[in-house]
This record gives sequence, C-alpha cells and structure tokens, in this order.
Amino acid sequence: MDCRLDTQIAIVTGASSGIGLAVARGLAASGAAVAVNYNSHAEPAEALVREIEAAGGRAFAIGADVSKEDDVARMFAETVSRWGAIDIVVANSGMQKDAPSATMSLADWNKVIEVNLTGQFLTARAAIRQFETQGDRGVSKAIGKIVHMSSVHDVIPWAGHVNYAATKGGIAMMMKTLAQEVAPKRIRVNAISPGAIATNINKEATEGEAAKALLNLIPYKRIGAAEDIAHAAVFLASDMADYVTGATLYVDGGMTLYPGFEDNG
Ligand code: BGC
Repeated sequence: MDCRLDTQIAIVTGASSGIGLAVARGLAASGAAVAVNYNSHAEPAEALVREIEAAGGRAFAIGADVSKEDDVARMFAETVSRWGAIDIVVANSGMQKDAPSATMSLADWNKVIEVNLTGQFLTARAAIRQFETQGDRGVSKAIGKIVHMSSVHDVIPWAGHVNYAATKGGIAMMMKTLAQEVAPKRIRVNAISPGAIATNINKEATEGEAAKALLNLIPYKRIGAAEDIAHAAVFLASDMADYVTGATLYVDGGMTLYPGFEDNG
C-alpha cells in the first residue's frame, strides 16, 4: 500500500514556480511522467524537466495559457502524442491581482476569473474528454484523476482580494459538480486548499515581520512549504485515495479552524 504512480502520465498546469513546481516534482518522484506546463516562464520549467530526467524520470515542458481553449487543447494533444495517454491532471495555475473592491478594474477582475476559474474549467474539461476517450488503461483503479488547486479562501473571505476569493469559492462548487457528474465513469475529482505556503505569490506576507503576524492565523505555528501541498496531490492522485472524490483537502496548518476563537468567544 503506497502512493506510487509508476506508468502513469500527469499534466500539471502552472508548474514553473511555487506550488505547481513542487507538485510536478512530487508526482515525478512518485513515478509519474509529467508534462510541466508554464505560461510565460519557460526556463524554470525546462530546469525542472532536466532535474526530473537526471533522476531517471520522464518529463517535458510545455507552454500554454490555460485561459485559452486552443492552448489547453494543444497541451493535451502534445502530451498524448508523446506518451499516448493521460491519467492525472492537476489544474493548478492561478494568480492574484489584488485591490480594494472600489478601485478594482474590470480588467483585473476578468483576468483573475479567466485564469483561476475558466482556466481550471478548460483544463478539467480537456481531462474528462481524454479520460473518456482512452478508457481503462489498467494503470489505476480510476480511469482518471483531476486535482484542482483551490485555497483556504474558498471558505475564508479575504478583503482586498475579491476577484481571487470569488474564483476559489467558484472552484469549490465547480469541483464538486464535476465530481458528481463523472464519478459513474470512474473519474475522481478533488481539490486541495492550501493555506499560507511560502511561494512568490505571497513573498511579502511570509517573510520577516509580516511572517510573525501571519503565524497568528496558523494554529500549527508554521508557514507551509510547497512540498506540503505536493504530498497531498500525490495522495489524491494515487489509488490510496481511490474512494475519495468531490473532497477538498485543507492543507493549512489549521488556518480554517477560526484561530481567533482560541482564547475568545
Ligand atoms: C494566497 C496566499 C495567502 C494564503 C493565505 C492563498 O490562497 O494565494 O497569498 O497567503 O492564501 O491567506
């Protein structure tokens, strides 16, 4: 009983940095061949591919903007043409464009919706199409697994981030609806909701003095590492999680436990 993914093929979107990069590395270390998607930064994606290959794994880097239907189709087609199938898809790409609601531009609202929500939909749709087309390859109990990257802000409101929080709330219901729809086909769909993970997206909040204030929101008193999320992704992609679908796994050191109530209320 383990979380090995040997002979399986994965796509991870937004894998040139942060959580996506760690997830791609984790899937590869567990034996999966990994398509490492990036949008604008090819070099770190290529570097990860070299690292995975040097360790004896299989990977390739592929540029695609997940908010564009044609890009997503090309990314899936390229992966299938190289490796013949896809078993695991991690819809991870996401961004923040923060502003108080009163001054948030429509462009910044739309951009975050397009990447975080529409991008994850297009990725999941392409995954479902591919899983249905290829059927049971005999490499896993499910015929395909999708993992959406959400956030604790799918349940915690976040002033100054209304576009971002709206997309994460949307991902929660999109994920569950997809899970309900495709479970009879033996496709599993789940989400991970990371808390404060030290990556570029929140560099300012996770370093120096700001990090101390952040720890007040984390009962476990540790800022998360991208590897914490990779471990959860490997588990959800593996047969160890075969009876898990439509679930959101909070990997947040307890951030969603209402820490303000520790000594209050
Ligand atoms: C955001 C981070 C933030 C964390 C906890 C994540 O979804 O991307 O910037 O630190 O939530 O608030």
